[in-house]
Amino acid sequence: MIRGSDARMPNAQSRHRSERGHRLFTDIHCHCLPGLDDGPVVMDQSLALCRSLLEEGIGCVVATPHQLGRFDGSNDAANVRETVSQLNGRLTDAGIALKVVPGGEVRVDERICELLKADKVLTIADAGRYILLELPHDVFIDIEPLLRDLDSMGVRAILSHPEKSASLLGNQQVLRGWLDRGVRLQVTASSLAGALGPQIEKVAWGLLGSGWANIVATDAHDVGLKRPEMRAAFKRISTRLGVKVATLFCIDNPSRVVAGQDVVAYRQEVHR
Ligand SMILES: [Fe+2]
Repeated sequence: MIRGSDARMPNAQSRHRSERGHRLFTDIHCHCLPGLDDGPVVMDQSLALCRSLLEEGIGCVVATPHQLGRFDGSNDAANVRETVSQLNGRLTDAGIALKVVPGGEVRVDERICELLKADKVLTIADAGRYILLELPHDVFIDIEPLLRDLDSMGVRAILSHPEKSASLLGNQQVLRGWLDRGVRLQVTASSLAGALGPQIEKVAWGLLGSGWANIVATDAHDVGLKRPEMRAAFKRISTRLGVKVATLFCIDNPSRVVAGQDVVAYRQEVHR
């Protein structure tokens, strides 16, 4: 069954502001758990990444280890929850005021609904409302049947870093149809700075500026090349699109996702 983890939600939402009263970012996509995927190998590396997330102004992070695809058969929901619990314990011991909640970056697979029902793959923050889906970058897969099945379970899809998927962007009409039926898009913070090349940077800005994408997350894996860059992304978006929009993408919408609430579209916010 899908867990609607009411017991976990207050914690997920409990750190909205820093001690100085600044609003904190929520990061819905981060590979911060040790030894599960291509993120940190050991706990000390996880703690270093979490320290870096906190320095970036993030108060709550969804741990999203890869599920299915090349990690099929490992990283099941129980294992992820247990590792999140261990990490939160170590964060408390180390005085790192970051809250980690469970999730997954789930490779598109026809078994997803079945695995959700069997409690093997995770929704974001274990809240039963959104699932973070990873599509292949080079091959186009029509996820319409999956979206229909997810719909029937009350689960909405958020596609991770669509700016990296040439195959998806080559099928814009189909993508538009998915958006109309409730799919949401998450752009990666470092894409906005050109970390993945000028073409991906351009596409990332196009997705945010057009209102097709409404959520920014770090997709951080380490404190090196794949480090979290939320603060820089917030500044860049503030400069180009305004502080209100940057707040929507980096603070309000991510925290709505964690709370299982509806994401607000850019155009709605701008024209309000
Ligand atoms: Fe990722």
